[in-house]
Amino acid sequence: MTKIAPSILSADFARLKEEILEVEQGGADYIHVDVMDGHFVPNITIGPLVVEAIRPITSLPLDVHLMIENPADYIDAFAKAGADIISVHVEASVHLHRTIHAIKNAGVKAGVVINPATPAEMLYPILKDIDLVLFMTVNPGFGGQAFIADVLSKIKQVDKWRQDFAPHVEFEVDGGINQTTAKLCTDAGVDVLVAGSAIFNEKNRENAIQNIRNATK
Ligand code: DX5
Ligand code: ZN
Repeated sequence: MTKIAPSILSADFARLKEEILEVEQGGADYIHVDVMDGHFVPNITIGPLVVEAIRPITSLPLDVHLMIENPADYIDAFAKAGADIISVHVEASVHLHRTIHAIKNAGVKAGVVINPATPAEMLYPILKDIDLVLFMTVNPGFGGQAFIADVLSKIKQVDKWRQDFAPHVEFEVDGGINQTTAKLCTDAGVDVLVAGSAIFNEKNRENAIQNIRNATK
């Protein structure tokens, strides 16, 4: 079954606990946490303190997406705060192999994120070492942007490598996911759909989650 990871970037931060409980009760599989530093992306969001604060209120895995420069410097802080998955951008990681193993050594699942304009080949050398690939289907920084369909062919390319030598790796997409784009992604091999505005802009979050999941069947 397709996994759904609501992105709290589109939640009401004044009611963050209630928002998380609503999507958990509504059938979410992960809670997606968007960390932005105002350098790697032109927006600033949250850090380890917020991850630590939400850790006790949900039993769902916290899927932490680091959109920051020098992500290796912050692995321990996010691991200690309670992250279950930490994903770093290839574009921000000069020593990607070292950073991935630092995440694993901290007892956390390791993900690698690639931007829409970054070629699939960047993933090839690291694919067997990681737990998750996060394909950006928008340019990171903001919720509510339009899905970039060119990424689908990249997902299909990496899926061939996955079938060849890395069958354990989970594929996730992030950006512009709704009932229409969800199906395009799962058809290309995606296992986990991040959705921000398509869930938190709807009054009934359970319906929103179910509608996206059902659209992929
Ligand atoms: C974008 C973030 C996304 C964002 C997705 O930089 O990484 O997780 O919240 O939002 P939607 O689903 O609204 O495109
Ligand atoms: Zn994200």
